[in-house]
This record gives sequence, structure tokens and C-alpha cells, in this order.
Amino acid sequence: MKYDVKDLGLSQLGKGRVEWAERQMPVLGLIRKRFEKEKPLKGIRLAACLHVTTETAVLMKTLKAGGARLALCASNPLSTQDDVAAYLVKEAEIATFAVKGEDRDRYYRHINAVLDLRPQITMDDGADLVGTIHGERRDLIQSTLGGTEETTTGVIRLRSLADQGKLMFPVIAVNDAQTKHFFDNRYGTGQSTIDGILRATNILYAGKNFVVVGYGQCGRGVATRARGMGANVIVCEVDALRALEALMDGFRVMPIKRAAKEGDVFVTVTGDMKAIDEAAIKLMKDGAILANSGHFDVEINKVALRKLARKVRVIRPYVEEFELKNGRKLYLLGEGRLINLAAAEGHPSLVMDMSFANQALAARHLVKEGGKLENKVYGVPLELDAEIAKLKLKSMGISIDKLTPEQQKYLSSWEIGT
Ligand code: ADE
Repeated sequence: MKYDVKDLGLSQLGKGRVEWAERQMPVLGLIRKRFEKEKPLKGIRLAACLHVTTETAVLMKTLKAGGARLALCASNPLSTQDDVAAYLVKEAEIATFAVKGEDRDRYYRHINAVLDLRPQITMDDGADLVGTIHGERRDLIQSTLGGTEETTTGVIRLRSLADQGKLMFPVIAVNDAQTKHFFDNRYGTGQSTIDGILRATNILYAGKNFVVVGYGQCGRGVATRARGMGANVIVCEVDALRALEALMDGFRVMPIKRAAKEGDVFVTVTGDMKAIDEAAIKLMKDGAILANSGHFDVEINKVALRKLARKVRVIRPYVEEFELKNGRKLYLLGEGRLINLAAAEGHPSLVMDMSFANQALAARHLVKEGGKLENKVYGVPLELDAEIAKLKLKSMGISIDKLTPEQQKYLSSWEIGT
């Protein structure tokens, strides 16, 4: 088996941590049991490009139990947990290509290594596998049944490919499942972003002016959790409806150029480039901390930051100090890459349980239906989404009420009025 990981000697550490995650991923555990019996992915070649974390290891084991032949690489150069990568190779016998801190060349070597499996299914977090197949590896289009996509940014890229009529196989947007984005994006990004900034800096949140740029599900999560820690949260948004929502959720709302002067900590979660650009950087206070939790490292204009600096040094792990020509010092965390995965461990297992249950069932769906689907971006079938919600509640020991036949009839009728 081919692989490229940092150190196989780390596998025992990874093993314990994967077991810990498994305990908090009961829905995926149930799916694994079903997969073991039914083997819905028997013989299917599946290439995955995901953050290589304990939760991803649990997903990989589930897919393997379903009969898939797997290869895994990282979906971000800084998000790999090296002990987990070692565990995946040594104990789980899954071809893994991921080393924390890998440079761009090695990152793409790894992408190409998993594509050498000639996958029938691709599983992406950010659409790099699909992007590479549609670019340099077009010879793989023919044999690809379909793909799945984990994140908002990836889905946006795929929709633009589909809108141009260039998507060459169906893709299931796992991100669009309600049991994914309502939970993982909001509670997962919310908590893990706070965690990443804390682990990198050990700052006190209470009393800080904390600027959240972007108020989608991720932004909502980050803003809510930062408030919970006692920060004064300011939201910057370009969408009027979302801005209004942030305001009525109790946050101050203002343009980035105003927020730049007030902020102690900035977090970007927009999915777009230059959400913090040169003009804003120039206005920031001495000591301001900049972090990103969006998928790509384009949200903070790092080129401008470097250009404005007269000196740059790493002051502690994941914290770069930029001494600007105006004398102020700004601090960039985790190279502007997803701070929740760079400095912390990403979303907690309990929410990834639902996201990855969607991934496993989406892969099964592709095998079942793949031949019949068009070259489009599809949502996760609603019945799968509902099934995952039910299983999750059950696993948490929560039961809920059921509509009576009379109530059901009322909801589907128009006759009964005032
Ligand atoms: N994306 C965000 N958090 C993650 C995690 N813990 N594992 C895999 N992908 C993630």
C-alpha cells in the first residue's frame, strides 16, 4: 500500500483519539453496522479529500466496512492530525497521503496520488478532487460515477462549474443537508473557531471587541459563542437580510472600515476573498488579532499585510507578528488558514457525526442511483436527512411528540378557518 504520512510511530496516539471520537459518533456507528452487513460499497473505488481528523478516520472506517476501496488525502495543508494519518495507514490499512504543514507541491502530489486509484466516487471538502479531475486529470471523468461535497465553498465552486455546463458527473452537496449546515456550520464552526483562537493565543475574550465578518451559518455560530465568552461582538455583512438578522440577534452591525478601528479580534467567515483588505488593515489598532475560519486562505489579504509590514516573525505557534510601517503590530493566526483546524481539532465529533452520516449515505446513494443521475449538483435526499435527524435524537436519548391523525388532517386541509 502506498502512503505518505509524517511518522507511523504516532499511530497509537491516533488510535486512542479515534476511539474517543467514535464514542461520540453513534449515528455513523449505526450506519457502519448496517454497512458491515449489507456491503453497499462493495468493490467501489472511493477517493476522499477531507480534513484528516479523528472524525474523518471514523468515516473512513465506515466506508471501508461498506466494502469500499479507499485512498485519502488532506483538503487543507494545515488541518491534518499526523497521529490520525499514521493510525489510518498502520492500523486501519487505508492509503493516506497527508502531512500537517505540507507545501503546495506536496498537497497536489497527494491529490494526484489518491486520484491514481481511478475513483468511481470522489468525496471532497472544497472541490479540489473534482477541480483536478475537470482540469489536469480529465482521463478520469469517464470512470467517475459521481462525487460528494462537504462544504459551502466547494458547493459554490461546483455550482459555477454546473452553471457553465462543464460539470461532467453528478455531485451530491452534502453541505446542503439540514442535518449538516444547521449544525456543523453553526455549532461546529462556532465552538471550534473560539477554541482555535484560544489555543493559539490564550487571550481573554471577556471585554474584547470581537469582529465577525460574514453572518452565514458559520458567522452566526462564531458570533454567538464569542458573545457567550463575554466579548462585545460586531458583525460585518454585505447581505441586507443577514445584516438585519445580526442586528436583531443583538449584535452591532457596521462596515469593515468602521469595525477595523474598534476590533481587538477579527474572524472572517465569508467564503469570499479579501473580506479584510488593505484599507481595513491600515486602520487596525496595535495588537489586533486576525483569524480566518472560511475554507480558503483568501479572506484576509495576506499579500497586503506582508506588503505593509517592515518585519514579520513567528512569536508563538500559529501566531505571526506583522510589524507595520506605521509602527503598529498585527497578529495573523494560522497563516490565515481555517483556524479551527489549524490550531484546534475542527468541529467536535458530535456534530461531525451528522455531517459524515450524510457523506456515508450520499456515497451509498451514488452507488445505487449514480447511473441514473444527470451531471448536476444534487441535494441529499430529504428522507435521508430526516432519518439522520431521527437517529441523532434517538442516540441522545431524546424522544419527541407525534402529530395525532386529527392534527395531521388539519394541516393538510383548508376548510377549517376562523
Ligand atoms: N471540518 C471541520 N471540522 C472537521 C473535523 N473535525 N473533521 C473533518 N472535517 C472537519
